[in-house]
Amino acid sequence: MNIYVPIVLIGILLTITFILILVDKLMGGSGEKMITVNQDTKFPVSGDESVLVSLNQNKIFLPSACGGKATCGMCKFRLIEGGDGEIKPTEDPFLSQEERDSGVRLSCQVKVRGDMKIEIPEVLLNAKEYETVVDYIEDLTYDIKLVRFKLKEGEQIDFKPGQYAQIRVPGIEVIRAYSMASNPKDKEHLEMIIRMVPNGQATTFVHKALELGDTIIVTGPFGHFYLQEDSDRDMICIAGGSGKAPIRSIVQYLRDQGMPRKVKYFFGARTTKDLFYTEEFVKLSEEFPNFTYIPALSDPKPEENWTGEVGLITDVVDRMTGDLKEAEAYLCGSPGMINACIKVLQKHDIQDEHVFFDKFS
Ligand SMILES: Cc1cc2nc3c(=O)[nH]c(=O)nc-3n(C[C@H](O)[C@H](O)[C@H](O)COP(=O)(O)OP(=O)(O)OC[C@H]3O[C@@H](n4cnc5c(N)ncnc54)[C@H](O)[C@@H]3O)c2cc1C
Ligand code: FES
Repeated sequence: MNIYVPIVLIGILLTITFILILVDKLMGGSGEKMITVNQDTKFPVSGDESVLVSLNQNKIFLPSACGGKATCGMCKFRLIEGGDGEIKPTEDPFLSQEERDSGVRLSCQVKVRGDMKIEIPEVLLNAKEYETVVDYIEDLTYDIKLVRFKLKEGEQIDFKPGQYAQIRVPGIEVIRAYSMASNPKDKEHLEMIIRMVPNGQATTFVHKALELGDTIIVTGPFGHFYLQEDSDRDMICIAGGSGKAPIRSIVQYLRDQGMPRKVKYFFGARTTKDLFYTEEFVKLSEEFPNFTYIPALSDPKPEENWTGEVGLITDVVDRMTGDLKEAEAYLCGSPGMINACIKVLQKHDIQDEHVFFDKFS
């Protein structure tokens, strides 16, 4: 073989490598890039991560209930300058035309390929990462647990009643959203009410493996679903299953203020085995005439001797509700339940802008 052949081959390889490095540099690639957030916060980013991960690495936390799989649509930000091109098909279902026109994207789907200027809601700069320890677990029903997370000594979290936080499942690094079920007055603990989802990754961990003393990373607070404090409208709250969590936080908060507003709380369950915290809410309704608690069963068995309301929660709300023109509604639970409830509320003339909900999807 000609002795020049290996030398020429090496030369070609070196040239290709050089060209690749150059292209990578020109396109942003793995070199250092600068992200500017809301005009004033700047930080360098290296590597080829998504905007979501890059922000997380710099202690800015966007809601991301699906952990970056493009299934929750919660990690939105506005791209002002830079970015990696067109909206991807994975982002499509989550963006309205108005959002597309103003540059809104999903941060888990956009890679940092060059310098970028972005905008996020100012309130998200309050979300932080907390290293917590599980200090209480209770079975509320056969498939629902209460878990309490204690923050590190000296740390505190401020949240609005109704908001949620995200837990990271150790080992599998899955991230999931859970509403705060506790009183926002207690800034050193967070309580969550977690229902087992068959074959669910996070809930199987919580129900089968989580133990007292375990360390869990919690991020938050997040969410637009919270008590409207500047309002004095009558409230109608509707929840099913673990949807009781944020309503509990809201009701505890109102209790501390002496229950200044009229609150009617409908809780839907299938049988008595699915009821929990009944005593807590019945006691509240005895203490505060402004508060009414209406648990309703859709499928009570004769041997349960249930004497309360019976029927689908939508039917119960329909027959026990009057005119809602001036009322405010807070709904929490499965998307199906919430959609059905909104239709019933509309039948009673509620105004759309007074309906607040969190779909546990
Ligand atoms: C804002 C927000 C707040 C939430 N708050 C709570 C809360 O307080 N308590 C609570 O228990 N959950 C809450 N959830 C739901 C929670 O985030 C998880 O989606 C749920 O616990 C399932 O997680 P997983 O990892 O166990 O299941 P996955 O591994 O994500 O899912 C396994 C399978 O179950 C299906 N699935 C996922 N979620 C549900 C569900 N809820 N019901 C039926 N099937 C489902 C999936 O489509 C999939 O096929 C909330 C969700 C959101 C978006
Ligand atoms: S994190 Fe869920 S869509 Fe981006």
